[in-house]
Amino acid sequence: MKLDHKRILVTSALPYANGQIHIGHLVEYIQTDIWVRFQRMMGHEIYYVCADDTHGTPIMLRAQAENITPQALIEKVWFEHKKDFDDFYVSFDHFGSTNSPENKELSQEIYLRLKKADLIEKKSIEQAYDPVKEMFLPDRFIKGECPKCHSKDQYGDSCEKCGSTYSPTDLLNPYSVVSGATPIKKISEHYFFKLSDPRCEEFLRNWTQVKTPLQPEARNKMKEWVGEPGQSKLSNWDISRDAPYFGFEIPDAPGKYFYVWLDAPIGYFASFKALCQRLNLNFDEWVEPQTTTEMYHFIGKDILYFHTLFWPATLEFSNYRTPTNVFAHGFLTVDGEKMSKSRGTFITASSFITSGLNPEWLRYYFAAKLNASLEDLDLNLQDFTARVNSDLLGKYINIASRSAGFLVKRFDGIIAPEALQHPLIDSLKAASQEVAAMYEQREFGKAQRLIMELADQVNIFVDANKPWEIAKTLNTGLNPSVAAQLQAVCSVTLEAFRILTIYLKPVLPELAKNVEVFLNIPPLTWSSVENSLTEKNIIQPYQHLMSRVDSKMIDTLIEANQLTVPTTS
Ligand code: MSP
Ligand code: ZN
Repeated sequence: MKLDHKRILVTSALPYANGQIHIGHLVEYIQTDIWVRFQRMMGHEIYYVCADDTHGTPIMLRAQAENITPQALIEKVWFEHKKDFDDFYVSFDHFGSTNSPENKELSQEIYLRLKKADLIEKKSIEQAYDPVKEMFLPDRFIKGECPKCHSKDQYGDSCEKCGSTYSPTDLLNPYSVVSGATPIKKISEHYFFKLSDPRCEEFLRNWTQVKTPLQPEARNKMKEWVGEPGQSKLSNWDISRDAPYFGFEIPDAPGKYFYVWLDAPIGYFASFKALCQRLNLNFDEWVEPQTTTEMYHFIGKDILYFHTLFWPATLEFSNYRTPTNVFAHGFLTVDGEKMSKSRGTFITASSFITSGLNPEWLRYYFAAKLNASLEDLDLNLQDFTARVNSDLLGKYINIASRSAGFLVKRFDGIIAPEALQHPLIDSLKAASQEVAAMYEQREFGKAQRLIMELADQVNIFVDANKPWEIAKTLNTGLNPSVAAQLQAVCSVTLEAFRILTIYLKPVLPELAKNVEVFLNIPPLTWSSVENSLTEKNIIQPYQHLMSRVDSKMIDTLIEANQLTVPTTS
């Protein structure tokens, strides 16, 4: 297969540094990682970066509650997040922090460029203020009584009891979640990015509707915002926050800080810049407007606006390259419902590991469920057990475990290469481009289904040829032609297993590594499909590659998540 050589920068959204990584997050990091690993196997030059998103009011308040500095909090969380990602084989080339010198410098530079382009405006606005804590209150730090049904302790946007929606000022008896005080109104000066400027409007209309091959659902959503000329709903974007705030100070505005969503996406660049310094890459070449490199952002559908409106406009008007595309995914539910702490389905990444579950089971299950759309996906715990056991164990691993023993015991692990000229092998190899296209298009579910159909073909071959029965005949006396037959069947089976492993490697990287040791082959890439096992690849004694999911583990997992978080959500 002739490939054009691409240079690609890939990101996943930067997780907030005020909470643990959970399986909802993992949908995204696993999805991105599978795509990245696939591109690496194709031989492209690709870098995958991420960082913790460290700024904002919630992080500042959590640090205060824990009686530590925000710096100490984000450092602690960074190590927790890093470990979770490593445990799930999420292969970032760099995992940074938005609270880095690179990010500060880039954020200030970008802001000053926007200002120079006359796209920053100052305006005084009135906001809720906590007179006791002496801070402005973001909407979700104000609660009160529902104006419709009078339920207490409701948030400022909607009532959880009766479902009605309203604005924060409609709440009865509002109080600050931080101090309990009644919020007052206070005026302060804010800095706005003038998204309603005709230049921005025109750019965004073209970028979202013409230039970028956004997912159809995403493009339609953005169409509502950018509208037809003269009908745009874009309004200026408030990019500043008043002290006290944990973030970067605005260069020419003492006491004013960049809103976290201004510096967070710039954190993609900052993290990549740190990687460039480490690897001696030319950062500018990747971020200049005329670059030929590609840049993709994987995100959840909840943060689409930030990535398809604010972020591209920020880049365009500060004279940087814009994203090649943005890939949004849907939200994870567990057993058909929103993840819930009281039901034990708010499953943290670390509890998954400590409950003894294999992270590659989850990678496979998510892969089997993922497609290129914004649809939500469900983790059904019974289906998880059944699917992993029947597909990975029953169909795939089974192939190796049934045939390796004979080859090692009777033929010193030596393959019969001439046997590999076989229609089964041809048929498996012929699927290579189709599987690759599915990975490329993020149709991972389709890819897994096709791979499992190929595994079915292999199992039909094994069942038809029954190596265990040939081996029994051999026990009754040495017959060279029967021996050759056994060696041939096992060789075809293991070569088939090798090809299936190539196709599964983006999803199951650790398993693939163990298979490479078992088959005595160098690391598999996509073009390894064109090779074959030879007599030089002495097959190693079969070692257990993966165990079955035991439904007791699922019970342990649910319990672990009920114990660690006793609060309801
Ligand atoms: N900090 C911002 C992103 C800044 S990017 C410049 C943020 N952080 S987050 O921790 O809330 O979410 C990180 C990513 O995980 C987001 O893309 C979000 O959509 C995704 N998910 C969080 N919960 C999720 C599910 N339950 N299901 C699927 N994805 C989810 O947003
Ligand atoms: Zn209500």
